[in-house]
Amino acid sequence: MFGYNIFLIGFMGTGKSTVADTFRKQYGMEIVEMDQAIVEKEGMSISDIFEKYGEEYFRNLETSLLKGMNGATDKIVSCGGGAVLRKENISFMKEQGKIVLLTASPEVIFCRVKNNKGRPLLQGKNTVEEIKAMMENRKKIYESAADIVICTDGKSLEIICKEIIEKL
Ligand code: S3P
Repeated sequence: MFGYNIFLIGFMGTGKSTVADTFRKQYGMEIVEMDQAIVEKEGMSISDIFEKYGEEYFRNLETSLLKGMNGATDKIVSCGGGAVLRKENISFMKEQGKIVLLTASPEVIFCRVKNNKGRPLLQGKNTVEEIKAMMENRKKIYESAADIVICTDGKSLEIICKEIIEKL
């Protein structure tokens, strides 16, 4: 359909999985949900992987998952929020498709993630200020990786997907 892959990047809770699912339904694209693929491959939760083997091990899994996609097209990839922390991952995404950054305000993200125990990097981060600080640390990386940026605040899924298609 597009002839290339679409990589959705952005901070935790920006709606990457939901948007990917909408692309699957609307355009019949195959989804790669990075976290879920890693959980299935390792047979344990993201939190358990972090706890047992550490973040570096998890980041290696992300890199090999992406590299394993080499040559694929028309996939919608919901990337883990930290998948862009490695330059080699960004280069791979650029070679294999377009990178779409989803953004949301720290307040919206806080509401979405506050009761979720499945994100190890957010454990103990109980305030909007802490989320905001983490987002600030990653802002430049996200923005420099992105081909297009879509702010999701106050927008319906339909509008978000329409904006993505228009901007791509
Ligand atoms: C992470 C984001 C998570 C998951 C892991 C680390 C991050 O994915 O990969 O907990 O470093 O931002 P989501 O963005 O899908 O929550």
